[in-house]
Amino acid sequence: MIFDRNENREVIALLGAGSMGMAIIRRFAAGRKILLGDISKANLQKAADDLRYSGYDVETCIVNAMEKESVEAFAAKAASLGPVMYFVDTAGASPSQASPEHILKLDMVGTGYAVDAFGKVMAAGGAGLIISSQTGYMMPLPYEVEQQILNTDPEGLMEIEFIREKADRSGTAYMIAKRVNHLQAMKAAATTWKQRRARINTLSPGIIVTPLAYDEFRAAGDNYQVMIDASAAMRTASSDEIAEAGAFLLGEHASFITGTDLLMDGGVIASIRTGQYRLH
Ligand SMILES: NC(=O)c1ccc[n+]([C@@H]2O[C@H](COP(=O)([O-])OP(=O)(O)OC[C@H]3O[C@@H](n4cnc5c(N)ncnc54)[C@H](O)[C@@H]3O)[C@@H](O)[C@H]2O)c1
Repeated sequence: MIFDRNENREVIALLGAGSMGMAIIRRFAAGRKILLGDISKANLQKAADDLRYSGYDVETCIVNAMEKESVEAFAAKAASLGPVMYFVDTAGASPSQASPEHILKLDMVGTGYAVDAFGKVMAAGGAGLIISSQTGYMMPLPYEVEQQILNTDPEGLMEIEFIREKADRSGTAYMIAKRVNHLQAMKAAATTWKQRRARINTLSPGIIVTPLAYDEFRAAGDNYQVMIDASAAMRTASSDEIAEAGAFLLGEHASFITGTDLLMDGGVIASIRTGQYRLH
């Protein structure tokens, strides 16, 4: 049966078919052609089945976000399906899940590969959304280091002296990687994505209860509880709330927003900056 006779449907590509990514797709992808990419075949299968049985038009692709060729093939596949209007990147690993090197290669370099690859295929008027993190605000980088990051290709980021020295633990690697995401979107918005007349932004969530977050809770003891209690919202959030903000940033009401970050953390960073909560 043909469910949708509209030809040349807009394509939305999601890299990382996890909790937040799928919430964004469900919130935003109706009537569009969906391409899901993930390293896990099982995740992809489950995500695609859930969407298909809910009426969405979906294709899948195994992608390793840490490999440039794999990400480029993913972007090419998206382009082969129609005009690529939306790209969402939620592929990532958290500090308790991976080594510092793995985190830098996936959350920092891999994100750079994706921003570059989709910067070559986005349709005019399109929009991209990179999921960063509140941790991108936890370790401010010196101005000169940020300039160096802005002038370095994804492959070269691992060689930056400041990053090599400071990213010696998974926690600091994650903080640096997530700040680099803000800079990657800023740079793309002003250069490659601008040339395609497409927008790109980051969204920095606070504590969102997903499988990734459960791994963090298990590893961090009381720290997360103290952080939650110190925040203005005094609660965690759900992937569906992230999807609301994501849909706004991708959609027409955000057409004047590009190259920036939306911090959505229930006030955690405000509590840190004002001394209400001290990072351990
Ligand atoms: N959950 C939180 O509290 C929180 C807070 C801030 C930021 N984040 C960030 O949000 C993003 C999404 O996280 P989530 O909580 O939805 O987690 P999730 O674990 O549900 O989703 C992450 C997805 O990325 C995929 N992935 C991992 N390595 C990959 C690779 N090499 N190539 C392709 N795909 C890969 C996983 O298979 C998984 O489907 C991550 O970047 C994470 O760092 C999460």
